[in-house]
Amino acid sequence: MRPFLLFTLCMPALTPLPFWADGPGQTQFVDHCAACHGLHALGGNGPDIQGSTLRDVTVATRGMDQMPEIDLSEAERRAIAVYLMSLSPEIAAQKLRFESQIAR
Ligand code: HEC
Repeated sequence: MRPFLLFTLCMPALTPLPFWADGPGQTQFVDHCAACHGLHALGGNGPDIQGSTLRDVTVATRGMDQMPEIDLSEAERRAIAVYLMSLSPEIAAQKLRFESQIAR
């Protein structure tokens, strides 16, 4: 009983990060995007893309001017977007509001 209680009390301290912080999206981002956009998506050869939504990621991965086309599944794009939105929830919220206005 006692060790279990201790374990339960420690759980929040052991998991201080949101579930996506080290999730598949971050791995996908590091594998496919970080070389150009920086490890924290703050920019490098490519621009700062923190807060990018699924729509942004989908449009960009079709290929842009200097951004290459990158073949990812919808699940992968979604995971990357969740990760990028988690890095800047305020920007993400603004983008989602804007998207909901133009998407009709
Ligand atoms: C080879 C370098 C490179 C890689 C790899 C790359 N990007 Fe880019 N990305 C760019 C550049 C450069 C731009 C700026 C637009 C342009 O010139 O094409 C850009 C633009 C973008 C934009 C639009 C930003 C804006 O403000 O309009 C998004 C979103 C984006 N990239 C997401 C991604 C994601 C997600 C990945 C990984 C799946 C990725 N990029 C991989 C170079 C790259």
